[in-house]
Amino acid sequence: MASTRPCLYVCTTCKQDGAPLAEGETPPGKRLYEAVAERLDTLGEAAPIDVQPIVCFANCEQGCSVGLSQAGKWAYMVGHIGPAEADDLIAYGAAYAKSETGAVLRSGRPESLRHAIVGRFPTHLAFPQTDLPETDLPETDLKDAAE
Ligand code: FES
Repeated sequence: MASTRPCLYVCTTCKQDGAPLAEGETPPGKRLYEAVAERLDTLGEAAPIDVQPIVCFANCEQGCSVGLSQAGKWAYMVGHIGPAEADDLIAYGAAYAKSETGAVLRSGRPESLRHAIVGRFPTHLAFPQTDLPETDLPETDLKDAAE
């Protein structure tokens, strides 16, 4: 049976606020995805959200970028975060899951996420998808492809 939990989409190609990567460095977005996935795996059925990797929200200069959505609610994009925010994103996801509309007041979000919302989208643009298309476009083309 398909999950009815909110889904956190994590951009795995994000750098942190556009900072260049060192040679061979794993992108912070990938490390964030792996940290969230590991914690959710530990929580098992008690996990408040699901997580999926994606490539590029066209929000590259404000990375790391994640999106949070659930059918029938506003969907939110969060930016200016990094792997250290994995636990806070799960706590935010739990609050989002309990919200009827998806709105979570600043005071209800972890401190690190109080000013991290960069946008929100109406439900019909944000219905959770399970099979987002893969892309093998060069990173320089990702933003154009996502627009
Ligand atoms: S690389 Fe993450 S939003 Fe573009």
